[in-house]
Amino acid sequence: MRESSRSRVARFGVVAAGAALGLGLLAAAVPTADAADSGTVAARVELGRRLFFDPAVSRLGATSCASCHDPEQGFSDPARRSDTGRFRVPNLRDVARRAPYMHDGSLATLEDVVRYYDRGGSPNEHLDAALHPLGLSDADVADVVAFLHALTGDERPGLGALTAERSKSVRVRVVDLDGAAVADARIVVRPVGDRLRGTHGMPEPFEVRTDRNGVVEIPFPASTHIALDLAGHELGAGRLLPDCAEKVTLMATPVDTVSVVVHKGGNLIRLPSELQLAPHSSMLRSVLAPGAAGSGVLRRTRTLGSSAALYTAKVADLRALAGVSAVACSTTALGDIGVFRLDLTGGATEPLFVAAEKPDAGVLRETAALERRLVEALTSAPDAE
Ligand code: HEC
Repeated sequence: MRESSRSRVARFGVVAAGAALGLGLLAAAVPTADAADSGTVAARVELGRRLFFDPAVSRLGATSCASCHDPEQGFSDPARRSDTGRFRVPNLRDVARRAPYMHDGSLATLEDVVRYYDRGGSPNEHLDAALHPLGLSDADVADVVAFLHALTGDERPGLGALTAERSKSVRVRVVDLDGAAVADARIVVRPVGDRLRGTHGMPEPFEVRTDRNGVVEIPFPASTHIALDLAGHELGAGRLLPDCAEKVTLMATPVDTVSVVVHKGGNLIRLPSELQLAPHSSMLRSVLAPGAAGSGVLRRTRTLGSSAALYTAKVADLRALAGVSAVACSTTALGDIGVFRLDLTGGATEPLFVAAEKPDAGVLRETAALERRLVEALTSAPDAE
């Protein structure tokens, strides 16, 4: 019983969204290029780099991403035409800035591109024979995306355009983990991304303060994005705000705490009050070690509308998971949920989506009871005659 539940957890490392499993993880953490200085992002980039160069990701055992996107040649290969001669292999330098992707712009994000490769490309008569389904886990996908982001420089001067969508200012509301306004908070606004065309040098960071309601109107500096810093906290999931943003609410997670927003998907009936965590090695795709040393618990702190909830834990209570790059998450009531990244430097982890692809235990019990009654009714029918 225990053994089978463990091997199910392990298989999440291989089967994204676990179609064969009871519960699937639909989306995992996707890092942002700007967080590139954090240790966890560096670790992800390293794992992504290994996958990028790893021929084993191809079923043929001979091709890797790097076979076509050759780092010696700017992550391209001028001599190679792929999709059987139709398309040149694009250079991947600064690729994070070039969405949408592929010759027809058919893929919106780098995650979409990696998932496209994971599916083995789209079947057509021009498809390169080297492309096969890869069997990447969600964590693997996030790693490769992190690596692709790392091929992009921090700042490209003078290229940001004054677009029509650009807002003059963004209205930011800051709330704490309980949803209460964080009043009078000093926030440092760092201009990041591209500085606007025609400007000289990136604008300087500046300070703003939230009002009694936790609200502050931030004028957009001459850059395409801003990053917001609040001492001792992480705002939002540390994401940049683009200059088209007009209004956002950001949750401030103290750095001694880990917070995860979990969305309920599919036919999962309710989100559990606790999520159990255990180490998971996605890179090696190995089995979750029986009786694994590290473990921890995320507790539901508050519900967010009808289909999401906030889960938190103190970093100190998760020490057993230190150094673990991916954790498997499960609940006693629902079985295994999935594998994701947990940043033990504190702050918010990217939202997690969980879904039951099979009905949960309650539904199964009801169905079994109905079946029993049906069988009883049918077998007792002849007697009644
Ligand atoms: C068989 C050669 C080949 C392999 C292997 C390959 N690619 Fe590509 N890649 C291409 C070609 C050709 C294109 C352009 C396709 C198009 O334009 O429709 C491309 C496009 C891309 C793009 C979009 C670039 C842009 O500017 O639109 C990204 C990102 C990318 N590849 C990443 C990867 C990753 C990550 C892997 C490994 C999982 C990989 N590639 C494996 C040949 C390859």
